[in-house]
Amino acid sequence: VDPVPPTIDDRQRTYVVSGSASGIGRATVDYLEAAGGRVIGVDLHDADVCADLSTATGRTQAVEDVRGLVRDGVIDGVVSCAGASAAASSRLILAVNFFGATALLDGLRNSMNPAGNAGAVAVASASTHHPVDHRLVRQCLQAGEDAVLGGTAVSGAEAYVASKVALVRWVRANAPSEAWAGRGLSLNAVSPALVQTPMMEQGMASEENRERLLARYPMVLHGIAEPGAVASLIGYLVGGENSHVTGQNIYVDGGSEAVVRGDVRW
Ligand SMILES: NC(=O)c1ccc[n+]([C@@H]2O[C@H](COP(=O)([O-])OP(=O)(O)OC[C@H]3O[C@@H](n4cnc5c(N)ncnc54)[C@H](O)[C@@H]3O)[C@@H](O)[C@H]2O)c1
Repeated sequence: VDPVPPTIDDRQRTYVVSGSASGIGRATVDYLEAAGGRVIGVDLHDADVCADLSTATGRTQAVEDVRGLVRDGVIDGVVSCAGASAAASSRLILAVNFFGATALLDGLRNSMNPAGNAGAVAVASASTHHPVDHRLVRQCLQAGEDAVLGGTAVSGAEAYVASKVALVRWVRANAPSEAWAGRGLSLNAVSPALVQTPMMEQGMASEENRERLLARYPMVLHGIAEPGAVASLIGYLVGGENSHVTGQNIYVDGGSEAVVRGDVRW
């Protein structure tokens, strides 16, 4: 057994973060930059690459524009954080949270550095351990986007959970593959519960919703999180120190998953 951890080289690392203009994405940019990295932000507005990840053309443009900005041609980390909330239309939610996220991760994979512990993270949600429409999840994973978006008549809340469960399943299925692990690239999901961002404030706008969310996510450790709590975990996963964590969905949820699911399932 070699007790020496892999060497992290001192070349500046380059990262791509979607959803960089706000909330968890913004905090992740700050974290990675503070650690000395160079970050290319992707968002609808206020970003290095302004692109709409809900459309096929927007995703293609995002991947091309990012590649154009990567000076030495190599990306060390990709973070898919852009997301539409449960208040959006089910069509938009599935388009951004599942199809947009997976297209960005897949599209940039070939530009990722096969050395230096490069990795990708998909921001999912602690809602993934709550009941889900498995049929819709399977459709996301198996049917084409047009078929799924054309035929769905579920609520925004149902689409949100299904989009995130499909995203985690996609991570689980792809992480061990030749394309990811075989090329030295980690691929993980992180699942926050309630994080103080514009998206969460929108979700808690009414007292009724606030009560419902606080009951659904019993965050017994430190309560509602600041975005930096998620950013630092993402930073570890993509930052060069992570040599062996892959294929995981890691909850950053103040213990709510442990409270809800108990000690039997994890
Ligand atoms: N805040 C929470 O409590 C919470 C909990 C669980 C999961 N999440 C997830 O974390 C991620 C970040 O959420 P946040 O709370 O920081 O929200 P936020 O609203 O503050 O930020 C989301 C960002 O995504 C961008 N975005 C949305 N649609 C886009 C599109 N079509 N193309 C490009 N960019 C787009 C927005 O412009 C925004 O800057 C999301 O995926 C969300 O589902 C958040």
